[in-house]
Amino acid sequence: MDQLGALETLLQEDRVFRPLPGLVMEANINPQELASAYQLAAHDPLAFWENAALELQWFRRWDKVLDDSKAPFYKWFTNARCNIVHNALDRHIKTANKHRLALIWEGEPGDTRKLTYFELYRAVNKMAGALKNLGVVKGDRVVLYMPPLPETIIAMLACAKIGAVHCMVFAGFSGKALKDRLRDAGARCLITADGFYRNGRVVPLKPAVDEILEEQDAVDICVVVRRAGIEVEMHPARDVWYEDIVRHEKPEAMTEVMESDDPLFLLYTSGTTGSPRGIVHSHGGYMVGIHHTLNWVFDIKPTDIFWCTADPGWITGHSYVVYAPLLAGTTTLLYEGHPLYPQADRMWHITAKHGVSILYTTPTTIRMLMRYGNLFPRQHDLTSLRMLGSVGEPINPEAWVWFYQTIGRGECPVMDTWWQTESGQIMISPMPVGLLKPGSVSKPLPGVEADIVDRTGAPVPRDKGGLLVIKKPWPGMMQNVWNDPDAYRAYFEKIPGCYVAGDVARRDEDGYFWMQGRADEVINVAGHRLGTAELESALVAHRAVAEAAVIGIPDKIKGEVAKAFVTLREGVEESDELAKELKEHMKRELGPVAELKSVKFRKDLPKTKSGKILRRLLKAEELGTEPGDISMLEEE
Ligand code: PRX
Repeated sequence: MDQLGALETLLQEDRVFRPLPGLVMEANINPQELASAYQLAAHDPLAFWENAALELQWFRRWDKVLDDSKAPFYKWFTNARCNIVHNALDRHIKTANKHRLALIWEGEPGDTRKLTYFELYRAVNKMAGALKNLGVVKGDRVVLYMPPLPETIIAMLACAKIGAVHCMVFAGFSGKALKDRLRDAGARCLITADGFYRNGRVVPLKPAVDEILEEQDAVDICVVVRRAGIEVEMHPARDVWYEDIVRHEKPEAMTEVMESDDPLFLLYTSGTTGSPRGIVHSHGGYMVGIHHTLNWVFDIKPTDIFWCTADPGWITGHSYVVYAPLLAGTTTLLYEGHPLYPQADRMWHITAKHGVSILYTTPTTIRMLMRYGNLFPRQHDLTSLRMLGSVGEPINPEAWVWFYQTIGRGECPVMDTWWQTESGQIMISPMPVGLLKPGSVSKPLPGVEADIVDRTGAPVPRDKGGLLVIKKPWPGMMQNVWNDPDAYRAYFEKIPGCYVAGDVARRDEDGYFWMQGRADEVINVAGHRLGTAELESALVAHRAVAEAAVIGIPDKIKGEVAKAFVTLREGVEESDELAKELKEHMKRELGPVAELKSVKFRKDLPKTKSGKILRRLLKAEELGTEPGDISMLEEE
């Protein structure tokens, strides 16, 4: 379906689904509680968030719930002390959760590992001790270039436990992207794996690491997890095997006492500038935001098997694969490989085998699996499922309804959750007891004040598209942009007093929000955020390219794909080989995640008088639409 077709279905969508009575009766938050939560949050949001914070353990209570004296640098739970790992692991060891499964991990070849809270706790303690022995101290940044393995989670928690700041780089990024992030984060220590399994192949990681570490001397410790069993070179002065450093460590370790706003992690994401920005999240506020939202949105119970299919290298993985399920004392499931391997029923096989009760995935995955029809899901017993979720990109109603009917038997509500790396936590989402409209993210959660406005900040009429803004701070919000406080400030400066998310949305008569994609120069390929400026600067690094413009064009499965328009340097001839070479070049520069669907050569690119490339015009030309669609949002 083209973009216009998709938009039409969205506009015509008027189906409404109600929750089943059983679900409402058993919900953590019933309709009455929800109504009073909305009231309290509207009237006294800080009291609302304080209640959420009181559900967790703190080493020292806060003096103030929110310090906004240096807005937009908001500080949550000022002077409070805590450590997210104390809540995610340590406290469970003293309760009946001790021998409950914390993690079920399945490798692509089918190997499985299960860790109870006690086992995970001991593994994290050993790694925490090992990192300390290697000289990693509180405040140090540790970069993790890791596939989805138990050790990935162990390393993240071990860093947090000793107060180090982890910085995950998705294994689908290239060595070059890793290098830029290592440099920006100023890391000394890198944790990686020899390789991993993906789509029936072994993907080596360590060789890419070797290449970039040779060119720098900031990183002097490289910990390598053995996963693929492939031969790798170990640099004697720098590289150590994970299994060797943890072997003799004690299974007990001190949990560092952190200030609420001490950084927990950096996570790089694409913005409108050429280089990715390191979004900073803290221990205290982040912990409250994700704990609360998992509990409310996914109605989480300790007996759940929660499967969020995101890679831990993205924010969804950080918040809802690793931290929030462990904070809740439930079981999280992590799968290493490709959803179509060895065939298109892998996800249904895993769901049935491990009794997954909540499945949280992306529209791209749903659309991809939907293409294979209903036979595969029918071959598996999916009755353990009780809730479903979607995130990362707009979901078209067709995919929503297929997910709801075919996977959820028409009984499992679909939580279409809108949020971002910057927001840290879910912001706009249905609740299990609410009405569902396929394709709508429903309403802002209690405590989240969202609105849709034009460029001047004035509210737009119902059913008109506008900019999505958040009008009050929330606990899971980023604390800063690493090394770039101006970039942080910029989120709050476009419209005074508001956080501008960068998305276009509209609101219907019932106040339901419908997300319509990005308003800025960020494209969303299969739920992965890519900055057009980043892609363009990688393209112009090629010797044949003079100028480049990248746009997102609609795609049936991936939502959007990247298309590049390129002008060539003097004397270079256009050819199919060159287009192919440019696509390969992008994979080398940024990694498989930065796939270009097509490359079109042009004599010149349309520009404004001041020389800015008019991507909007290229896109309109490409799609045969009017360029002025959302002109009220465009800058002069
Ligand atoms: O455009 C929105 C889209 O994904 C962006 C955030 O990307 P990222 O920081 O990588 O985080 C992704 C997962 C939290 C948003 O600005 N997005 C996210 N969720 C939805 C969505 N678009 C529509 N519907 C959603 N449910």
